[in-house]
Amino acid sequence: MVALRVGTDCSGIEAPLQALQQLGVPYQHVFSSEICPTVRKQLLANHSPQILYEDVLARDNNNAPYVDLYVAGWPCQGNSILGKRRGLADPRTRVVWSLLEYIHKQRPKVVMLENVANALRIDRGEQFNAVRSSLEDAGYVVQWRIICPKDIGVPVGRRRLYIVAVRTDLCFEFAWPTPQVHPIRLLDIIGPAPPGAHLNEPPGGGREAVGLSATIGPCIQKHCEIGACSRTSHGS
Ligand SMILES: C[S@@+](CC[C@H](N)C(=O)[O-])C[C@H]1O[C@@H](n2cnc3c(N)ncnc32)[C@H](O)[C@@H]1O
Repeated sequence: MVALRVGTDCSGIEAPLQALQQLGVPYQHVFSSEICPTVRKQLLANHSPQILYEDVLARDNNNAPYVDLYVAGWPCQGNSILGKRRGLADPRTRVVWSLLEYIHKQRPKVVMLENVANALRIDRGEQFNAVRSSLEDAGYVVQWRIICPKDIGVPVGRRRLYIVAVRTDLCFEFAWPTPQVHPIRLLDIIGPAPPGAHLNEPPGGGREAVGLSATIGPCIQKHCEIGACSRTSHGS
């Protein structure tokens, strides 16, 4: 199978690459961008992008490399219900224009953009409509959905807006995942605790032993060694 050329912006912990790995999709990690030095250290501990940009705003998108799949979650602080809800008046939110510029200049086959659910409503819907129109103007069929990850097999209860744009010439119809009847639990993912591990007492008593599986354990360990970056905390 030919390796998919993948680029991510505002790359964080590179969740999209974790997904490709778990799906067994061969990929070439062409670029990432991450402004936070601590997050960059973590990113490089787990992934090897051919180019790692620091501030995506400083990139010349005319000369940025082409990718087949482009994934980005633009900063959500201005859109979150936990913040001041300044939307596009918040300079962090306006990073989205750079992402759209990349898409217009390099025209990846498939684009996935992500933000907090409130991004659909903020600025009376103008931000979302501007993003959608820009993608359509660039020649994409655009779909979007609010999804709660726990309903599709990921033990996280935070609803998010997912925008999927497929270049019109591909005539490819994207299929959204089907919600599961029984949401997955964290315990199902991280597995039994190693002997002697400290356990939290769940409400109502009893102890459920949890530990780290071989897949997820090394990533979390690296994260703990490097330390968290406060600039990456997310709202909803
Ligand atoms: C919503 S998170 C993205 C999460 C990401 N999809 C993941 O899998 O972890 C936004 C990220 O964008 C980064 N960021 C914010 N402004 C940036 C900029 N101008 N250039 C590059 N990265 C930026 C933040 O540090 C943060 O890690």
